[in-house]
Amino acid sequence: MTEIAPLADIAADLTGGRTSGLRFLDDTGTLAVVLDVTGLAEPDRKPLEDKLRDALLARPGVSSVRVAMTAEKKALTIIAVGSGKGGVGKSTLAANLAVALRRRGVKVGLVDADIYGPSLPKLMSSEGVKPEAQGSKLAPVPNAYGVPMLSTGQIAAPGQAIAWRGPMAGKALEQLIDARWGDIDTLIVDLPPGTGDVQITMIQRHKPAGAVIVSTPQDLALIDAARAVSLFEQAEVPIIGLVENMAGYACPHCGEVSDPFGSGGAEAAAAAMGIDFLGRVPLAMGIRLASDGGVPPAAGTDPAGEPFHAVAAKVADWIEARKAS
Ligand SMILES: Nc1ncnc2c1ncn2[C@@H]1O[C@H](COP(=O)(O)OP(=O)(O)OP(=O)(O)O)[C@@H](O)[C@H]1O
Ligand SMILES: [Mg+2]
Repeated sequence: MTEIAPLADIAADLTGGRTSGLRFLDDTGTLAVVLDVTGLAEPDRKPLEDKLRDALLARPGVSSVRVAMTAEKKALTIIAVGSGKGGVGKSTLAANLAVALRRRGVKVGLVDADIYGPSLPKLMSSEGVKPEAQGSKLAPVPNAYGVPMLSTGQIAAPGQAIAWRGPMAGKALEQLIDARWGDIDTLIVDLPPGTGDVQITMIQRHKPAGAVIVSTPQDLALIDAARAVSLFEQAEVPIIGLVENMAGYACPHCGEVSDPFGSGGAEAAAAAMGIDFLGRVPLAMGIRLASDGGVPPAAGTDPAGEPFHAVAAKVADWIEARKAS
């Protein structure tokens, strides 16, 4: 009978102590071992498993090796980007926030929860790139900005109408969030406009750690923002703060900033709601053009990216403070 202890030592040495439960399953030399791959990036797991198996198979008395890989399920910090109203710049902010956080060293991924109207593939230049399935889960699509991403827009053909009913939409959202995120620890989730089914599923099933609310300066949009705030507050999702987008118009010719909708309204509304104000992003031709071209302004050195970096700095502080508490 082959002794277990020396085999267990070999396995532990080889894997940096990641093995446990080594035992023979029968008298013909079938060995079983549990390999803990927590914290290892997806591509590093299989080579370690192979190395372990080969080393054990090389020992006398071992005829086959069954490796059971386990990984502690890492809780992702989910940050939802929402608004009560459509077209206020949630997707633009979500994309740039993710890129800016990445540039600050946060291991961040991006999910397009706008199941019916996905726009992140275009904003992140990954239209038509399909995610691969790894086992029963999806592998996020990489992009030039270092922010792996999943969107129904990468699954459906561009321009194709997505007409899923509620349960299917819920299932799709599940697949996007419960994916093989590897070493990502923070997910930015771009929500559809309003306070409907997808938002409620998202909040209840995938409990975000916090929410960023986007609003334009108009009173009407701010009323909608208050509605989004109350949706998150009812579900006890902390509000990270409010971002005022399309705040003031930066003239592309002279650079002068004018405020067609007045200024300071969003900041005052945030104060009235008792939530933090994360900053103003001006309405700028450069932001629209870069976004349409699939280059988030936060990815480059253009001054158009600066307001997004300022918002990201506050969100990064919030993430750090949450970790510390
Ligand atoms: N600060 C800005 N300056 C100029 N254009 C902007 C700005 N923010 C967003 N846009 C443009 O406004 C349009 C709507 O933005 P976006 O798609 O991000 O809004 P949304 O809130 O996600 O919309 P929806 O509710 O449809 O999901 C886009 O064409 C985008 O490029
Ligand atoms: Mg959007």
